[in-house]
Amino acid sequence: MASASTNDIEFRSVTKNYGAVTAVTDINLNVPKGAFLALLGPSGCGKTTCLRMMGGFEQPSEGAVLIDGREMNGVPAYRRPVNMVFQHYALFPHFNVEQNVAYGLRQMRPRIAAAEINRRAAEALEMVRLGGFAKRRIHEMSGGQQQRVALARAIVNRPSVLLLDEPLAALDKKLRSAMQIELQTLQRELGITFVLVTHDQEEALSMADLVCVMSAGRIRQLGTPQEVYDRPADLFVADFVGKTNRIGATMEAGGTRLRLGDGSALAANARPGLATGDVIVAIRPEAIRLTRAAVGSASFAGTVTHRIFLGSSAEYAVTVPGLGDFLVTADRRGMNESDLVEPGEAIFLGFDPDMAHVFPAQVSSAQVFSASNA
Ligand SMILES: Nc1ncnc2c1ncn2[C@@H]1O[C@H](COP(=O)(O)OP(=O)(O)O)[C@@H](O)[C@H]1O
Ligand SMILES: [Mg+2]
Repeated sequence: MASASTNDIEFRSVTKNYGAVTAVTDINLNVPKGAFLALLGPSGCGKTTCLRMMGGFEQPSEGAVLIDGREMNGVPAYRRPVNMVFQHYALFPHFNVEQNVAYGLRQMRPRIAAAEINRRAAEALEMVRLGGFAKRRIHEMSGGQQQRVALARAIVNRPSVLLLDEPLAALDKKLRSAMQIELQTLQRELGITFVLVTHDQEEALSMADLVCVMSAGRIRQLGTPQEVYDRPADLFVADFVGKTNRIGATMEAGGTRLRLGDGSALAANARPGLATGDVIVAIRPEAIRLTRAAVGSASFAGTVTHRIFLGSSAEYAVTVPGLGDFLVTADRRGMNESDLVEPGEAIFLGFDPDMAHVFPAQVSSAQVFSASNA
């Protein structure tokens, strides 16, 4: 069948209400075919609701959900070319691994021949590296292995889209990192679209090729991991995706000069809509350097208050009179002078003003970013 669209999934002005609760508002979103998209945001922001509308487990209150260019309103889950791995993946405890994976295929009508079912189940188990575990009981499998059984069960009937709701949340940190790599590999091998829900920014940035940042039922930014990290659309994204230092400032001279709390001034790149008024300058901890002497225009005298050793890097807390407290991350390879900095020492904190982001201090509701790549 010819493809109807370059997008596997489209949301057009989708709003979902549960009674008096509005879970998501006016969502416009395109998920391109073959993408690995992460829906990222804090608990309760509407991620699962979006995923369930893709899967057909919920219907939009307003707007339309399209799959492969066809409107899906009213189309139930079992008639959609998508499969979902639920947050609490329920495996059948009295079935063995193979029976769990093959269950959906056995229910299909017209019937699939037993030999074909076995072949497909074995293939799905190979894909998740559980080739030798077909006859094991579920309770004999570790948490990570059970997660893979749930994955095999979801890919066995070859959906064009796989929906994953916090699939790694129950796993410990080491296993989670290993599974992040495996999920990425699996997605490339299958060549299908993955939509992953997570509240963990590291997980979203490391696995997905598109990150959709959500807050309070709305999309704040959609972009590649690099885009949302390096060019956050607003303060929420800057804070949620990675760590951010905030400096209160006032925009002057038609948006070309920033006056900081200590009285110093920085040159700014004029931005439309930010000519004057209170702003927040946001700067990543790793974009700040610590030096013994002042370097360049954006260099401020401060004191180191804490140092946290993190193995390959170190984090410093630095207080600058008039500006406040800063978090500074220093890669130990790139660190020479700062490697020796001890708590209590006087230091200069500096950054390249081009690495800083300037946002309005007061965000009115009209300024809340509603992203659309439609
Ligand atoms: N079945 C439901 N009935 C009523 N409210 C719901 C239901 N499901 C979700 N909600 C509410 O909708 C909002 C978004 O929920 P959800 O999509 O589960 O968020 P997330 O997955 O990002 O944590 C929350 O306020 C939640 O309480
Ligand atoms: Mg959820």
